[in-house]
Amino acid sequence: MFAADHCSVQIVWRHLAPGELNLATSSGPPLSLHLEEGTHSEPSAGATLIDGLPPGSPIEIRVEGSALGGERRLTTATLPQPPGEILTRVATISDLHLGARAFGRRKTIIEDPEPDVAHPIRCSTAAIRAAATWGASEIVAKGDLTNNGHLDQWRSYAELVEASPVPVMSLPGNHDRTWKRGSAGLSPEDAAQLFGLQIASPLLVLDRPGVRLVLVDSTSGPHNRGSLVASEDDVVQAVAETEAGSVALVLMHHQLHQHPVHEGWPVGVHRGPTVAHLDRLASTGTPTLVSGGHTHRHRRWTHRGVVVTQVGSTKDYPGVWAGYTVSEGGISQVVRRVAEPDCIRWTDHTRRAVWGAWRWISPGTVRTRCFLHTW
Ligand SMILES: [Fe+2]
Ligand SMILES: [Fe+2]
Repeated sequence: MFAADHCSVQIVWRHLAPGELNLATSSGPPLSLHLEEGTHSEPSAGATLIDGLPPGSPIEIRVEGSALGGERRLTTATLPQPPGEILTRVATISDLHLGARAFGRRKTIIEDPEPDVAHPIRCSTAAIRAAATWGASEIVAKGDLTNNGHLDQWRSYAELVEASPVPVMSLPGNHDRTWKRGSAGLSPEDAAQLFGLQIASPLLVLDRPGVRLVLVDSTSGPHNRGSLVASEDDVVQAVAETEAGSVALVLMHHQLHQHPVHEGWPVGVHRGPTVAHLDRLASTGTPTLVSGGHTHRHRRWTHRGVVVTQVGSTKDYPGVWAGYTVSEGGISQVVRRVAEPDCIRWTDHTRRAVWGAWRWISPGTVRTRCFLHTW
């Protein structure tokens, strides 16, 4: 089980045989799937959604069929129902890296043969479609939209935004500022102007029912590390001025460091400025959730009631998007894998990065990814 919200769970698998896979719960009609054969380089990974489940309940799923070659029972649970009326659903995607061809430190994980549409475009397109189907009224893309800020990569991003069934807002990541001198590249600000994109520079504040979205540019030029120096006062003010009863959802590219010792590459916002910033956000009294990307990993922690998360990339394992359900008294985060077969087979293939450890480093636990925060 990869994801749970208050009414559904996402089940994922790999290395099953071609054939039938039947999933049944006590709460709804059984689901019957036919699994195709995978290839050597892209194994038969897949995902499906079981919907219409009761909120806040233990769920037992009976799985059987020729694809499994037997019967298994999975036990899981749905999130509690968000308190009060549901007011807004928004989604995020992060670390699209449009223009990338390879994954891994040594760039050895590639698509072979090279497909007509590269995996960053396939994965982000499918993520946007899935998030809109889930019910997101808009989507925020949390940086590393492009792999190097090249003109053709920005054009791809603009086409993605243009084709989206719901509005897409953006904020820049470090990769969006790393185009090399002499190459055809654009800063996020120039790309926004050229293609008519909405990109935070340094802040974009959007009020929606029950939630204030605060999009923050946390980049420090082309450097890997993040910085809040240019925007911190404005972020605190935006959070402080959030309408009473609403939650502030602060979205940025870089991760806020929970510990003084970094959890390896890449570098986000150091522990010292992170704590100082979270103290100021906590002092506003506004319920606040801060979410970054950049690490392509999933983490969750809390500082003085401010919830902090990291959500992974659309394009490498596990390959995700995140949905936020805002109600009168709570906000939930649900992170689902991009389930399109030609995406999840690729993202599953990338588990082998970091000498095979990426499969353990990136996903976090389901409670890291999916939770309800109330106030
Ligand atoms: Fe990234
Ligand atoms: Fe990044």
